[in-house]
Amino acid sequence: MNNYVKFFRETSPYINMHRGKTFVLALPGESLYDDNFGHIIHDIALLNNLGIKIVLVHGAKPQVEEKLAQRKLRPQFSNNTRITDADTMSCVKEAVGSTTIAIEALLSMGMPNSPMQGSRLRVISGNFITAKPLGIRDGVDFHHTGEVRRIDRIGIKRQLDDDAVVILAPLGYSPTGEAFNLTCEDIATQAAITLEAEKLVCFCDEAGVSDSDGKLVRTIDMVDVHNWLDQIKQNVRLHDALNAGYDACLNGVSRSHLIAYGEDGALLQELFTREGSGTLLSHHGGETIRQATIDDVGGVLELITPLEESGVLVKRSRELLETEITRFHVVMHPEGMVIGCAALYPFPDTESGELACVVTHPDFHKRGLAARLLNALEQKARGELNLNQLFVLTTQTAHWFQEQGFSESSLKALPTEKAALYNLQRNSKILVKTL
Ligand SMILES: CC(C)(COP(=O)(O)OP(=O)(O)OC[C@H]1O[C@@H](n2cnc3c(N)ncnc32)[C@H](O)[C@@H]1OP(=O)(O)O)[C@@H](O)C(=O)NCCC(=O)NCCS
Repeated sequence: MNNYVKFFRETSPYINMHRGKTFVLALPGESLYDDNFGHIIHDIALLNNLGIKIVLVHGAKPQVEEKLAQRKLRPQFSNNTRITDADTMSCVKEAVGSTTIAIEALLSMGMPNSPMQGSRLRVISGNFITAKPLGIRDGVDFHHTGEVRRIDRIGIKRQLDDDAVVILAPLGYSPTGEAFNLTCEDIATQAAITLEAEKLVCFCDEAGVSDSDGKLVRTIDMVDVHNWLDQIKQNVRLHDALNAGYDACLNGVSRSHLIAYGEDGALLQELFTREGSGTLLSHHGGETIRQATIDDVGGVLELITPLEESGVLVKRSRELLETEITRFHVVMHPEGMVIGCAALYPFPDTESGELACVVTHPDFHKRGLAARLLNALEQKARGELNLNQLFVLTTQTAHWFQEQGFSESSLKALPTEKAALYNLQRNSKILVKTL
């Protein structure tokens, strides 16, 4: 029960942050065959209920393959792109039509005792995409394979403003009245860009990009994308998803995410928790460090309260924190959450300063964030405040500070007013660093 309450409280900043924003979700055709697909649909309904504007783009590759096999037609590709001749196009239309209908049906569920109870979702699909033919490339005629030419921004926005979930199938129509076979990634990227979406979320068969040790890479900076694209080029679907995310971010979308369609709750975990579940691609790379403002008080309190309760930090009231917040620097997660903080209290008479409340969130330990925070405060101490010595009082973290160049000292090293307040019972170690 307590965990539930804690979880619910912790999600509230994300709920506020995401409300009214547009998210484009790209679901490949494979995801429909996964046991987890029903959960994804429930989670999409939940996002819609929380006021997030959802555009759902789906693919239908395996469904098309099935239709081709039923008709004993051979799939044809050139450079990983399907060649859609007239017979293939008729399979595409059938496969795409039935896939869209299956998704619409699931989103229309309202069974009592299910997560869909009372959700009453409105789902819209239509001729929102204008396509053009790929044409003939390197002598290969792609026939009815096309690419996005235009997206009906006003039409889609109108539906989103009406709280509908907009479904975009991988088909588009040309002004000449023909239908074209498009990729899910192309539509998702162009839709996210045209709609100025906050996020593009691509569902993949893996949780995201992994490094050479098989460890999931949580965040990728835009400047590093090409290295990663190169490393994962064997996995075409993951590569295409990362590339789609990159294109979107390059053209104004704030963030792109890769998550696993086979993992129950991956979407909610990615959107509503600090650690996420997949790979996040963003402009600002990982975390940023800046001076705190009054708006950070809630985030700092959330971070330090567990440490105050366990006695690692001395308790501060919200009021005190509000008056002292400009003494703090914070580490911001790319999603806008406070994941680290540290304070610097100057004692100008002795040209020294006290470091306090150096904390990073346990999910983000050992990434050098605390060291970066310390570095930022040292620069401030030296430059802006003209101090030549820093000291810190700590009960459990002396070794960490020693590794950052501090050395053990005594009460005599403290400014008199600080020494007078020294809590003998707490018996903190005193460490000093000359700047
Ligand atoms: C201490 C703390 C700020 C370090 O955060 P961080 O972001 O993980 O720090 P960095 O990544 O820069 O450094 C990590 C290194 O410090 C080590 N370290 C962390 N806490 C330590 C401690 N109490 N004593 C000695 N070393 C410690 C880690 O083991 C790691 O080294 P390793 O990778 O060689 O094992 C973090 O553990 C924390 O928030 N602790 C609780 C709050 C606290 O005690 N604050 C200090 C009082 S003001």
